[in-house]
Amino acid sequence: MTFTSKKPRLGVCYYPEHWPREWWADDAARMSAMGIAQVRIGEFAWSRIEPEPGRFDWAWFDEAIDVLHRAGLVIVMCTPTATPPKWLVDTMPEMIATDSAGKPRRFGSRRHYCFSHPGYRRESRRITRTVAERYGRHPAVIAWQTDNEYGCHDTVLSWSPAALAAFRRWLAERYVDIGVLNSAWGNVFWSMEYRSFDEIDLPNLTVTEANPAHVLDFRRFSSQQVKEFNHEQCRILRESSSGRDLTHNFMGFVTDFDHHELAEDLDVASWDSYPLGFLEQFWFSADEKHRYARQGHPDVSAFHHDLYRGVGRGRWWVMEQQPGPVNWARHNPAPLPGMVRFWSLEAFAHGAEVVSYFRWRQAPFAQEQMHAGLLRPDRMDDVAAQEVRETAAVLPHFDGQRSAKAEIALIFDYQAEWMTAIQPQGAGFSALRVCFEWYLALRQLGLDIDILPPTAELSGYRMIIIPCLPALPKALVDQLRTLQGSVIYGPRTGSKTTHFSIPENLPPGELQTLLPIKVVRVESLREGLLEPGPDFSVSRWLEHVESVLQPELALRDGRGVLFHHERHRYLAGTIDLQALQRIFRQMASEVDVSVRAMPEGVRTRRIGELHFVFNHCAEPRSIDSLVPRNAALLFGARELSPAGVAAWIDDEKPK
Ligand code: GAL
Repeated sequence: MTFTSKKPRLGVCYYPEHWPREWWADDAARMSAMGIAQVRIGEFAWSRIEPEPGRFDWAWFDEAIDVLHRAGLVIVMCTPTATPPKWLVDTMPEMIATDSAGKPRRFGSRRHYCFSHPGYRRESRRITRTVAERYGRHPAVIAWQTDNEYGCHDTVLSWSPAALAAFRRWLAERYVDIGVLNSAWGNVFWSMEYRSFDEIDLPNLTVTEANPAHVLDFRRFSSQQVKEFNHEQCRILRESSSGRDLTHNFMGFVTDFDHHELAEDLDVASWDSYPLGFLEQFWFSADEKHRYARQGHPDVSAFHHDLYRGVGRGRWWVMEQQPGPVNWARHNPAPLPGMVRFWSLEAFAHGAEVVSYFRWRQAPFAQEQMHAGLLRPDRMDDVAAQEVRETAAVLPHFDGQRSAKAEIALIFDYQAEWMTAIQPQGAGFSALRVCFEWYLALRQLGLDIDILPPTAELSGYRMIIIPCLPALPKALVDQLRTLQGSVIYGPRTGSKTTHFSIPENLPPGELQTLLPIKVVRVESLREGLLEPGPDFSVSRWLEHVESVLQPELALRDGRGVLFHHERHRYLAGTIDLQALQRIFRQMASEVDVSVRAMPEGVRTRRIGELHFVFNHCAEPRSIDSLVPRNAALLFGARELSPAGVAAWIDDEKPK
């Protein structure tokens, strides 16, 4: 991983096809004057580029690109495959994805295609090649975005005839012999044995749950289809547009395909950040939803910044930044004044190369007419426009800053989330959520974190945090055997084989070579049911462990919850936040990492010599305890306002 940050810049998402030509030059000039350097275009423009099969209308697009170029803006061009036009769907109705109830999805919004359909794959390659040959060498085009938000609107899993045919082929290649598959999946259970790969169905519409091994393989297959779809576009773009960065705009809390694997074909990861929509849509408590309604949860954007920095192997952007109220959450409040600047600086503090706003101007028509832009539909500035100018004014502070590698690595694996979703065992159990909760616990101690895949090189990290990794790769265990850092494993780590069975020597499987413990029983506990310890409690999940080790933490009845052997700790239950933080503090002290408790809603982040404090609260917060006495603030104040950001330079090297 490189962790270098180029000169950061601002961008915007623009749809010239939505506006009269006469507005384009004025738009471009105003973007430039606002401090915007980059424009993303074209991701939904297929019906205007190719209004009829084989008939292309390039004139408008050529002109739009030249207008932007003349204004000194650089362009991120997109492949338009998220919105195949009506004529294409009509020539190939079977390209439509099928939902899990077996119903075909309809034309009339977006993402209506099935990744496995060979005809659509051919069309995706054809339109990618056509657009790439037209604009791939244009001097303004500096990067490409493939498609748009793979997985949005629940579109990775398609239960179509095309998916079924491809799934059977995929299984046949993987297992070769049907007997091997039967035994790997445990199909003797309930007489589910197959005589050939052609007898296997997709795992939907079964009477009760399908075999988890079957579902897991279908999810792996589906993820692979997305990777291949993207790979085909990348191959063409590399041929016709060499030297340009390739990216894709990933999403928040979307885990339906393996982003680490897909990103192997990209130069830069990017993601779409909608802090208020995410707070409203996800698992947060009513209290948190009220408290942070106009700011967003203090750890959600940061979590994704740190995740996508890992996905992009150090290089990442925010491709779409929320500029005001959105249209798609249950409730859509306006951000606090200053929040758009705050979110932008937060991203740069985590090492973003670009923050790009969605969108330039609010559209007065169609599905997203209630979604704010930087400009209002009447072409006047909306609130965010001024905050973009203010962000541009302080951006030079980031020039040349290197993002220091964090001292803490937190491992997140997409397959872990699939496994806990397939067999939660306790309602709502999610590996992703556990990772987020542990991340939050660490951040409240003022720590910077790299979120990495299980395949990452981990040398140099002082603390390695593995919150929930049911199928623990052998290569990772081997790496952990030799590292110097302090490691902690959360419940369910090592609990399954890659074929979704319990390991022969019981959980945590291979991990027993590092830590002599055996998980002999697990229980999940309904909300409010607590198992008390002397100064902590276990809720939601508890494992019964046999071990020769004296537990470091035990319940009142003596059952061990935390086991410690050499540099490794295993936590056998979900414990309260304060107790989890005490464990992290202990680990940090053992490896000489300093921690600082954050005031409620306050977070810190360091990039190179720049130190930041962010106040996510709707009230002012004193940050005196976090800022060195002699530090001269570049901006912000020791009494930090709501949505306030303070920064100073400290060239002292991290320990
Ligand atoms: C994103 C998407 C955009 C737009 C935006 C609205 O998920 O990529 O096209 O729909 O949400 O917030």
